[in-house]
Amino acid sequence: MLIKTRDDGFVHPQSSEITPQNIYRDRRQLMRLMAGGVAGAALAAWAVRDARAQMPAQGAKLAGRKSSVSGASTMERITDFKDASSYNNFYEFGTDKSDPARNAHTLKTTPWTVGIEGLVKKPGNYALEDLLKLSPMEERVYRLRCVEGWSMVIPWVGYSVAELIKKVEPLGSAKYVEFITLADSKTMPYVGSRVLNWPYVEGLRMDEAMHPLTLLAFGMYGEVLPKQNGAPLRLVVPWKYGFKSGKSLVKIRFTDKQPATAWNVAAPQEYGFYSNVNPLVDHPRWSQANERRIGEDGLFAKKRKTLMFNGYEAQVGQLYAGMDLKKYY
Ligand code: MTE
Repeated sequence: MLIKTRDDGFVHPQSSEITPQNIYRDRRQLMRLMAGGVAGAALAAWAVRDARAQMPAQGAKLAGRKSSVSGASTMERITDFKDASSYNNFYEFGTDKSDPARNAHTLKTTPWTVGIEGLVKKPGNYALEDLLKLSPMEERVYRLRCVEGWSMVIPWVGYSVAELIKKVEPLGSAKYVEFITLADSKTMPYVGSRVLNWPYVEGLRMDEAMHPLTLLAFGMYGEVLPKQNGAPLRLVVPWKYGFKSGKSLVKIRFTDKQPATAWNVAAPQEYGFYSNVNPLVDHPRWSQANERRIGEDGLFAKKRKTLMFNGYEAQVGQLYAGMDLKKYY
């Protein structure tokens, strides 16, 4: 996300060098764990059992079967894990791309519960352990297109949010789903900074949330999500700009009103509620027609054309039939 330097004194921090050493440390730890047979073959081995204390060990294996959802996997080259886990937006840990990888080690992901609230028959606090078991894990290779103009291709592990929504039985009056993320100033150094209202909130229309491509992700690259990527669970909405994909979710609320979302509240002229990837609707300060694929193209290489709905038009175009996408940006 690009932020303006504001009159109220907020100054965009200096870029600093990327030093994701903790990632390499964690991966070495994983190799040791695996050699010791602790991280088993698949989710079943990881998901729970006795292991609250070991859980969710960053880097532990989290496999998913290949997804059968139409369009859930692109054949495009997968972005290197190193790039996907060191070039991040997670403003709770800083606004520079390298900040989350450096700072997110303070995030405490266990124990973790997700509150289900609002217009729903089965509200309550759901433990991460139970959410992990709620539906079989799938691997989905999605493009992630950030509103800033870069993109990645990431193999996520999770299941459709629709599986969870069906289990908790929303009322007929529920029209939207609000996704609320953790805001803990003790472990997230930038919570409290004036760049956004905290917590970071995102929202979807009910039919968008129920679309099979909308993923509740617990892992990526066959491993538990790194903290900087939104551990222990996040949303991934592949046809929308990356900021719709809230990280480190703690509440899911069903409502009859369109939720006030973090970026829409911060800059309504720039970031709409829908935020579908659309090369024909420019951001007021820059074009959205092209993108730079991280790691693949090189800084000076020709950019690639951004696809309508990020390439998922066949799957999701119908959700917006008859809507003026310039108005509902
Ligand atoms: N979720 C929270 N809680 N805080 C954030 O700052 N940034 C968003 C989104 N989810 C953000 C967030 C943005 S702008 C993008 S592009 C994606 O996360 C980036 O996800 P990645 O770092 O895993 O690529």
